[in-house]
Amino acid sequence: MLEKINAIKEEINAAVATNLQEVEELRIKYLSKKGSISQLMVDFRTVPAEMKRELGQKINELKNYATEKIASLKEGFATAADSDAEAIDLTRTATPYELGTRHPLSLVKNEMLRIFAGMGFTIAEGPEIEDDWHVFESLNFPPDHPARDMQDTFFISRDPKDILLRTHTSSVQTRVMEKTQPPIRIVCPGRVYRNEAISARAHCFFHQVEGLYIDKNVSFADLKQVLLGFARQMFGPETKIRLRPSYFPFTEPSAEMDISCDICGGKGCAFCKGTGWVEILGCGMVDPNVLDACGIDSKVYSGYAFGMGIERITNLKYKVKDLRMFSENDVRFLREFESAR
Ligand code: DAH
Repeated sequence: MLEKINAIKEEINAAVATNLQEVEELRIKYLSKKGSISQLMVDFRTVPAEMKRELGQKINELKNYATEKIASLKEGFATAADSDAEAIDLTRTATPYELGTRHPLSLVKNEMLRIFAGMGFTIAEGPEIEDDWHVFESLNFPPDHPARDMQDTFFISRDPKDILLRTHTSSVQTRVMEKTQPPIRIVCPGRVYRNEAISARAHCFFHQVEGLYIDKNVSFADLKQVLLGFARQMFGPETKIRLRPSYFPFTEPSAEMDISCDICGGKGCAFCKGTGWVEILGCGMVDPNVLDACGIDSKVYSGYAFGMGIERITNLKYKVKDLRMFSENDVRFLREFESAR
């Protein structure tokens, strides 16, 4: 029996395996119920009593030795198997893909365009790098006209200063009127640039939506009704509007529009500085000079235009006090608009 034990030990000592399957075969060969070590246990019953102690110990040692050897062989393959393609767990949930949120300015722009689309306006766009004609001259700002100082311009060309970053989306009016005869009913969203010091209330770039309607017999009453409809859809059905006389070179008469403060409902609060009104846009009847400059007969057609800042509307809708928040891309700020997506 002792010989048998020693022989098995030798065998196990020399055993090698090239894969998990072979390790399992070794386990079956030595340690399973019908394995050779279990067989020793059976033979052990017939061993004379005086030898039982010694042989019993040897068999136990052999069994422990075999168990350890097989475990260590198995370990070697376990790590290799993990990196195997077959070790990929297909039932695991996929790596989460983080969804972004729409930028508040896009949310508000989309809402504005949706409202105007409902009133028959289509979308027109133009370039951000513009020439003097489209931004100023065609819009009734003659050279050296003081109204050019209303907008601090970034010039791209120096001499002459005729290529520039558009200071307003009114330039798209000209581009469309030059190419299209009335009826024209468009809204023009886009980014504009002004050479201003950056602060909570001003930025060197911001966004506008321009509106233009040209047809026969268009009146100021039409303008007022469209703007009232817009204000009520944007800020709620109780919203009131008021128009104050103003000046823009491209409209005559010109006005600025206020809406009733939606924080205090018009009673007067810190937000509206006690007036009950907040300004949201500029507007007016298109100056006949502008129509003629763009090839539209001002004796036949008339029209209105309006322009507003998307940041301004967003400030009012979401109470964002600092303009800089819109361009810093702080995700804590952007995430606040998740539900509005
Ligand atoms: N372009 C003007 C601005 O940037 C806004 C504006 C005012 C546009 C009156 C208009 C308008 O079309 O009629 O300050």
